[in-house]
Amino acid sequence: MKQAIWSVLLAVCLAGNFVEASEEISGNAADQTALINIEARDAIDLSGEWHYIVDPQKIGILRGDRRRTAVFEDQSEPNSPVDFLEYNFNAAPVMTVPGDWNGQDPTLHWFEGLVWFRKVLQLEGPQTARRFLHIGAANYKALVYVNGEKVGEHEGGFTPFAFDVTTQLKEGRNSIVIGVDATHSDDSVPTPITDWKTYGGLTRPVHLVTVPDTWVHDYFLRLSGDRILATVRLGGADPGERTVTVRIPELDIKLKGKSDSSGTASLEMDIPAGMQLWSPEAPKLYDVSISSAKDEVVDRIGFRTVATRGSEILLNGEAIFLRGISLHEEALGAIASRAFSEEDARAMLGIAKNDLNANFVRLAHYPHAEVMTRVADEMGLLVWSEIPVYWDVAFDNPQTLETALRMQEENIVRDRNRASIIFWSVGNETPQTEERLAFFDAMIQAARAMDDTRLMTAALHNVRSEGQVYVVDDPLAELIDVVAVNTYQGWYGRAPLTRVPGAEWQNPSGKPFLFSEFGAGAKYGFHDPEMEKYSEEFQQAYYKVTLEMVAKVPGLAGLSPWILKDFQSPRRMHHEYQDYWNRKGLISPEGDKKLAFYVLRDYYTEISNKADKGQQE
Ligand code: GCU
Repeated sequence: MKQAIWSVLLAVCLAGNFVEASEEISGNAADQTALINIEARDAIDLSGEWHYIVDPQKIGILRGDRRRTAVFEDQSEPNSPVDFLEYNFNAAPVMTVPGDWNGQDPTLHWFEGLVWFRKVLQLEGPQTARRFLHIGAANYKALVYVNGEKVGEHEGGFTPFAFDVTTQLKEGRNSIVIGVDATHSDDSVPTPITDWKTYGGLTRPVHLVTVPDTWVHDYFLRLSGDRILATVRLGGADPGERTVTVRIPELDIKLKGKSDSSGTASLEMDIPAGMQLWSPEAPKLYDVSISSAKDEVVDRIGFRTVATRGSEILLNGEAIFLRGISLHEEALGAIASRAFSEEDARAMLGIAKNDLNANFVRLAHYPHAEVMTRVADEMGLLVWSEIPVYWDVAFDNPQTLETALRMQEENIVRDRNRASIIFWSVGNETPQTEERLAFFDAMIQAARAMDDTRLMTAALHNVRSEGQVYVVDDPLAELIDVVAVNTYQGWYGRAPLTRVPGAEWQNPSGKPFLFSEFGAGAKYGFHDPEMEKYSEEFQQAYYKVTLEMVAKVPGLAGLSPWILKDFQSPRRMHHEYQDYWNRKGLISPEGDKKLAFYVLRDYYTEISNKADKGQQE
């Protein structure tokens, strides 16, 4: 009976999504996900100091008529119409946006509740232009008000959203108030139980974007067979029958066409001779212009193909081995933070590419800042992009599926022009239940409807073992294109390191297979020749034996060991070795390389040299 109910619920949800998904392709894009590529638009960057008010009991959300604590109204003495006030932003402290509150206010180190942020914006002259308030990310829920009027709310801590604020803005003083609530629940994505710290706040940039009455909302340029395809979606009241042009000057390309009644234009042409394909070795990006009557957006886009052939992953038709490493979105430094600048991205990805000799990064466990994938495009790093369906989410709750589907859509629409991204991952280490399979089936189908050029994957675990033989027969393997497994033999459990190389892996799907995680903890600077766990010597020995095991897996397509840098986690409570840091990093929070770093680096350098030699022969 339960299954029948679940199927009905899912069908309703799917239908809702599918209709919505198909509408998204043809519906007015402005009503769907946020407009993309903000940096290239007419935008006011609202980064910088915002006043903030901590609201532990969430009384700022108006209940009844108690306006003395209706924080979003941003009233202040003496001209307030309210008899008296129990808040005042002008007297409140400030913190930097983008940023998380955990690292900026010591009293909020573990706070996972509601904080109100306020920015005053002076606008000159009559406000008639079409404007969106665009928020790169707010973890976890956002309540957005302009001049005391609610313009919208959003759930999901790692993807962008935008609200039309045209009618709320006025000449002179404008008050933007955003309530950010970091509370998670058993129905949220993820739940409150994660092996990473919940950083709360406006963790990515906030912009006020001005667009013409018909604008380029989003676009997707990609290769398909021997063709270049361009799908452009216009926003506005009357987006149909507009001329849309896509130019790639360096290739002397000018694609022109008309948008359909919903504002979507689909243009294509043969791939021109001389187009340089993007790859980690040669990350060629082209300047691209996407324009319609009164709007033009420029971008830098790489073109390449990714596919599978049996157990191989093909980049531009050639088999590739993924020399990877996993990363959380956490900048270098003893006081970790969620905000990621371009400098942070270059620092972290530079270590992976230049020091570790990696060609692949798993950006775990949620969509990272857009700047990460743009820098990966420039540097030449392949990317695994992931939605935080992590561990035991409420797979039987249609609302949870809605949240995951929307988060996935926001991520794919934002990033599908990034050549570096080759995988969309739907989740990590989830239980093998029927509800979970149906949940991921819906996510995978929705992802393919938005982007059929990339490979779908997920990080599996709890594989069946027969002695030292591990059989990856998770039913989810049937739905994804690339089978990835997290394994920790020799770290969790009592198996001695000597047993690790003897592990044998079976991947009955025959699809490309990679290790999405393995790792061991080590506190930088703790040395123990007896190789006690948490010593650098233990981690070094663990990597040696695990790479021995890896090297024996027939047809392995790659690996992304866990993890480049130690990261903050509420679950790592050992005060001597962890102190709320997960110590599986190959580098310390400040960037010091541990002994194991060099084991992996040497392994990748050897593989890379062999591959180069193979190409020369
Ligand atoms: C799991 C999980 C990670 C976690 C890691 C660990 O594989 O995917 O998020 O941090 O194990 O135990 O360190």
